[in-house]
Amino acid sequence: MTVEMREGYEGTGTGAITPDGCAVEVYTRLPIGPEPDIIAAAVPAGAHILELGSGAGRMTHPLLERGFTVTAVDESADMLARVRGARTICGPIEQLDLGDEKFDVVMLASFLVHAGDEEVRRGLLRTCARHVAENGCVLIQREGADYHTDVPRERVDPAGFTVRIASVTPVADGVDSVHVEYDFPDGTWTQTFLARPLTKEQFESALEEAGLEVDEYLTPDGVWVRAVRVR
Ligand SMILES: C[S@@+](CC[C@H](N)C(=O)[O-])C[C@H]1O[C@@H](n2cnc3c(N)ncnc32)[C@H](O)[C@@H]1O
Repeated sequence: MTVEMREGYEGTGTGAITPDGCAVEVYTRLPIGPEPDIIAAAVPAGAHILELGSGAGRMTHPLLERGFTVTAVDESADMLARVRGARTICGPIEQLDLGDEKFDVVMLASFLVHAGDEEVRRGLLRTCARHVAENGCVLIQREGADYHTDVPRERVDPAGFTVRIASVTPVADGVDSVHVEYDFPDGTWTQTFLARPLTKEQFESALEEAGLEVDEYLTPDGVWVRAVRVR
């Protein structure tokens, strides 16, 4: 199935590329960091998590291993085909409407809240608010403070690949085009995407617009946030 690329987003390298430029092959190879532990410490044991933008299940699988139930949403069927042990839903997050079905936890990770298009961001946050149970929470992963300024930068991963933020170029008011390269011994993949940096104030005001508010900044760098519906 051919899916249309989002404007300003591009990916190169072998295999399927998602509409936001992610290479499926890269996301099946990238190791997971401390994220599942951060999530597990922030939500009730055994919670049902609605994971928005799950990709190939890099976070889904460790969350299932920790005893959570996960419903994984992604607009890429190629990514979702790699997800095991979770219910999957294919489609744009901003259009997701599961009716009366609410979740203990709704998770919007991978910096998706920084979508270049503000309308898309509004849609993503409205989806979070629409699907969280009354006493549930929304977990959001934000960009770190220097993500757009400490450039170029690269990290050599012990697993044997290098990830490089090669350039960050302003392309419109408040929006940057970010170019990332992944060098593996057997190939190189790239992703170019649009990202809108958000100050803490801008982030909190975007939440408020969607009927959400910060409950707690979970990590000292402010990257992981637990939000709740405004009561
Ligand atoms: C950077 S990848 C991260 C995947 C996964 N969260 C991880 O950490 O491995 C982003 C994923 O979100 C999906 N995605 C991005 N924007 C989306 C949208 N608006 N609706 C549905 N899926 C989206 C992409 O298809 C991709 O699989």
